[in-house]
Amino acid sequence: MTLTDQIEISNLTKAEAKAELARLADVLNAANTAYHGADAPDISDAEYDALKRRNAAIEVLFPDLKRNDSPSDLVGASVQGGFVKVAHVVRMLSLGNAFDPGDVIAFDTSVRKFLGLEADAPLAYTSEPKIDGLSLSLRYEGGRLVQAATRGDGEVGENVTQNARTISDIPQHLENAPGILEVRGEVYMSHADFSALNVAQTKAGGKVFANPRNAAAGSLRQLDTAITRARPLRFFAYAWGDLSAPLAASQKGAIDQLASLGFSVNPLTALCDGPDQMLAHYARIETQRATLGYDIDGVVYKVDDLALQARLGFRSTTPRWAIAHKFPAELAWTWLEGIDIQVGRTGALSPVARLAPVTVGGVVVSNATLHNEDYIAGRDAGGAPIRDGKDIRVGDWVQVYRAGDVIPKIADVDLGKRPDDSTAFVFPVKCPECGSDAPREEGDAVRRCSGGIICPAQAVEKLKHFVARGAFDIDGLGAKQVEQFYRDGWIREPADIFTLKERYGVGLKQLKNREGWGEKSADNLFAAIADKSRIPLGRFIFALGIRHVGEAGSNMLALHYGEWPVFETAMTAARDPGPEWEELNGIDGVGEVLATSLVTAFAQDAERASIDRLAALLQIEPAKRPDTDGSPVAGKTVVFTGTLVRMTRAEAKARAEALGAKVSGSVSARTDILVAGPGAGSKAKKAVELGIKTLDEDGWLALIGAL
Ligand code: IVH
Repeated sequence: MTLTDQIEISNLTKAEAKAELARLADVLNAANTAYHGADAPDISDAEYDALKRRNAAIEVLFPDLKRNDSPSDLVGASVQGGFVKVAHVVRMLSLGNAFDPGDVIAFDTSVRKFLGLEADAPLAYTSEPKIDGLSLSLRYEGGRLVQAATRGDGEVGENVTQNARTISDIPQHLENAPGILEVRGEVYMSHADFSALNVAQTKAGGKVFANPRNAAAGSLRQLDTAITRARPLRFFAYAWGDLSAPLAASQKGAIDQLASLGFSVNPLTALCDGPDQMLAHYARIETQRATLGYDIDGVVYKVDDLALQARLGFRSTTPRWAIAHKFPAELAWTWLEGIDIQVGRTGALSPVARLAPVTVGGVVVSNATLHNEDYIAGRDAGGAPIRDGKDIRVGDWVQVYRAGDVIPKIADVDLGKRPDDSTAFVFPVKCPECGSDAPREEGDAVRRCSGGIICPAQAVEKLKHFVARGAFDIDGLGAKQVEQFYRDGWIREPADIFTLKERYGVGLKQLKNREGWGEKSADNLFAAIADKSRIPLGRFIFALGIRHVGEAGSNMLALHYGEWPVFETAMTAARDPGPEWEELNGIDGVGEVLATSLVTAFAQDAERASIDRLAALLQIEPAKRPDTDGSPVAGKTVVFTGTLVRMTRAEAKARAEALGAKVSGSVSARTDILVAGPGAGSKAKKAVELGIKTLDEDGWLALIGAL
């Protein structure tokens, strides 16, 4: 790195800027070549993106210095059949769902509760259609479109800039925009364009798309930009990411601002003063749904005041200030041809309905979930009848429904069409894959195979989970490859993935000689695996696939324990009652069920040995706490007790966590600060006994600089 790297862009002289652009072109073009070729790039995706942004920012200040080989103009597509990955500066989130008016009212109540607002205090929301397409983030610097990225897993998406430039709704230049502006919205295809495309595809013997969303996604993610250009894609703007200056003080104001910058925004966006108006607007949009000319799958409500949005913040993957109210599910009738039992990662025996293919809401459905044996028998977990107590049998005429991306389900059975010779379905009590007993534990809705990792189905499902999105997400190693490698004994447990190159990179039996593989794809896979041998702690914990330990829980655990050795030691010690067990249970969001499942997994010899073999091959990165430089409470464990007056408990917790503190539900020797409001009881007493620093609410607010 040269000295210019240290200089603030705004302080660069013209000569320094020129030298810096030359250096950045060298570094970025070299990294790009390495990425496109077989070599592993020597800089991380995040560094690459940061350098690229620095380059673009300098070009904005010194437009006449822009080089002919500027990295800003690099084509997004990589040669190996994928797109270059880009890290989002601000994560792209999804939305929580509401399915009926009660859920919408509950949403309003939870927002008010979090903010400590009375039921009759004014609180406005925007209501707008939920467009059924795919989301895209457009980055403008100095008013110039410099990058378009798909959502990907929310943190890392794909660079589709060249393709996005072909969409006429997407401006290439903006006048009077903030220096940095990321506009987010939905790429979609109209019904008319979708039908015309399918007619043309049929004529040309090409791929026919199931629905406009698939057509839009397939068209945007084309490696050949000319194909995207020929597809009539559209774009509605409805949100934003990274920003150098606020667009407005309200959601509606910001959307109006995007419209005046030249973006298409949805004309059915309305400002509502509460659930009654929101539901009325939902009804209005629902009536217009059939004549809009494009697919929508619900209505999105957002708190209008952006200062309140900021206070509400986010759960792990969804904002607290918005929700999607989905339209009712689509229905269709068909024959149930069979019931298969699948064995999942945690041994659960899941019945799956095999259906005569039927179109439900534009998508062909041939499988549906049957949940568990009670569901098939027509009763819920408490033994009460569902579907009026009608059971489901092979040969039945059944009603299928699907809502959005949710797995199709069976809603009803027509007993009038039931064959005379039909018999009730007998649920197996042994694992169909390994023959082990499959008992049903008390309180569990499903039967589980007791075979553990000796059960091939469980082992394969565990591996599939391990390589999936949110976990290790290894390019080129998906469910299909894992199944094949498992079958041939090349990969039996996660650790085997990281020794694959050692075992099958050279010699007679080499990956590149396997059917469907070649030199390039084998090299790419080894590089993708090597790339993931550094993994953030939260992802690592999630990837282990321990029952009840989901993505949000894993991140919470990672934030709390910080480092793998600390976590591992704590899980080992927590198997016995004592402070470690107490601490684990005290973590907000960790209940007894999750805690028990976690310590049980670490206490099982075979499972533990498999985890240890894996961890030994990896560099597990300590959890990244939010950017808390200078925070006086970063890394501190805080307990709130008693009544808080200036903010709700939920807001206090969210704010403390945003400052890098760990919030725990119980006082122990590890507690650093107890914030005690009026009415604090046993926790305050315990804190005194343990000599823990105790503050009142104002003392806490003063400490975090909020008074
Ligand atoms: S707001 C932080 N508004 O729905 C929340 N999303 O299920 C940002 N979507 O990933 C999203 N129409 O792709 C928002 N009017 C709308 C939307 C919308 C469609 C999509 C978006 C998001 C998904 C969540």
